Amino acid sequence: MTDISEYVKVQACKVSERLNVLLNTDAASVVSDAMRYSAEGGGKRIRPVLTLEFSRVCDGNLSAALDFGCAVEMIHTYSLIHDDLPCMDDDDMRRGKPSCHIAFGEDNALLAGDALLTKAFSVLSGVTGLPAENIVRAVGALSDFAGIDGMVGGQVLDLQFENTSPTAEEILKMYSLKTCALLKVSAVLGCLTAENCSDDAVSAACEYGENIGLAFQIVDDILDIIGDSEKLGKPIGSDTKNDKSTLVSIYGINKAKELADELTEKAISALDRLNGDTHILKEIALMLADRTF
Ligand code: IPE
Ligand code: IPE
Ligand code: MG
Ligand code: MG
Ligand code: MG
Repeated sequence: MTDISEYVKVQACKVSERLNVLLNTDAASVVSDAMRYSAEGGGKRIRPVLTLEFSRVCDGNLSAALDFGCAVEMIHTYSLIHDDLPCMDDDDMRRGKPSCHIAFGEDNALLAGDALLTKAFSVLSGVTGLPAENIVRAVGALSDFAGIDGMVGGQVLDLQFENTSPTAEEILKMYSLKTCALLKVSAVLGCLTAENCSDDAVSAACEYGENIGLAFQIVDDILDIIGDSEKLGKPIGSDTKNDKSTLVSIYGINKAKELADELTEKAISALDRLNGDTHILKEIALMLADRTF
């Protein structure tokens, strides 16, 4: 294992431990079991790891960053639960085990997603050790990037484009919303854990998140064709099954991978605008472009 994947793994463990604590406070019910089931283990935790890393680079409050990152991971987990439902991608496996609706039923999966979404904002608003202004900015950013102008908006386009032939530009717009939005806000929330973070840092975080996000979705789409479902913890062939157009279906695997590599380089260039030590963020971008799960 490379140093960077070892580093990310250690950070991901901290996130998983904190998520367990944050999700254990819910009253016991089948839906709180479903929330924990989907959130625990299996995930790469790349979004909260980015929050922690941007916080470190901006000299922010790392315990606030852990909770900010967990809030994003809760929203990401809800998006996966809903993405797998029969009315969306209809996929039976997620994070190496039966999808939430297979294990708990569609009704409970729907509610577990709703509850993770709302819990995320409860976690954000409960963060201590930061000026209220930073918390309010974090709540605003997360709601914007997760909602209709962000992840949800991208999922709307993803569904609208099924069985149609969108242009490459339209597909990039869909990726930018459904995938980049949560990666961007992960980076932005890390910056917001520094009391006086600069607008330039936030804008560099957005540019990094946007470019790794586009590359991330291209690689996800490639792995949906040539990946190993055991390693991925989810089925392959989902995009073909649902007649989704992707950049890979337009350009082919090789050209799509070249584009992902170019976007990764763009993300790395954006890091020049940050003052702190960004070598880990650079290595994370490279690791994500070459991932096999
Ligand atoms: C899957 O995200 C959904 C996409 C945006 C492609 P991840 O690949 O980060 O999923 P986990 O969190 O590791 O399960
Ligand atoms: C999903 O894209 C992005 C989300 C916002 C959940 P995909 O539908 O390709 O993600 P996977 O492949 O199911 O993880
Ligand atoms: Mg989908
Ligand atoms: Mg899917
Ligand atoms: Mg996919």
